[in-house]
Amino acid sequence: MIYATRRETFSASHRLHQDNLTEEENSNLYGKCNNKFGHGHNYILEVVVAGEIDPATGYLIDLKKLKSIIRENVIDKLDHHHLNFDVEFMQGIIPTTENLAVEIWKQLVDKIPHGKLYSVKIFETENNYIEYKG
Ligand code: NI
Repeated sequence: MIYATRRETFSASHRLHQDNLTEEENSNLYGKCNNKFGHGHNYILEVVVAGEIDPATGYLIDLKKLKSIIRENVIDKLDHHHLNFDVEFMQGIIPTTENLAVEIWKQLVDKIPHGKLYSVKIFETENNYIEYKG
């Protein structure tokens, strides 16, 4: 098995908030991410595809193609948008990095032309990342 990774970045705002909790409970649970008017993150996304080398090309997957697939299905929909209001595939979902990783996975899993989606990793800050493997 061989693995290919494409790294992309995007900026988006979000607010972590649950209507059934009090303001204080929300604030304790979500901290800065509960800011009333939302706030932004510079996210880093790493998408890993796993599979066998295609003998016809010597590639697992053409990384130019993988880049276009990720941009078209994920980055263009997220970059400079508000995850709570402005991103169709995040509607009704608390926009934590965990949920974002799962939803990005769903956007990509059927669209990989060679090999299989292996993981979606998102860095919300330099020191924290979430990884989803389906
Ligand atoms: Ni936040």
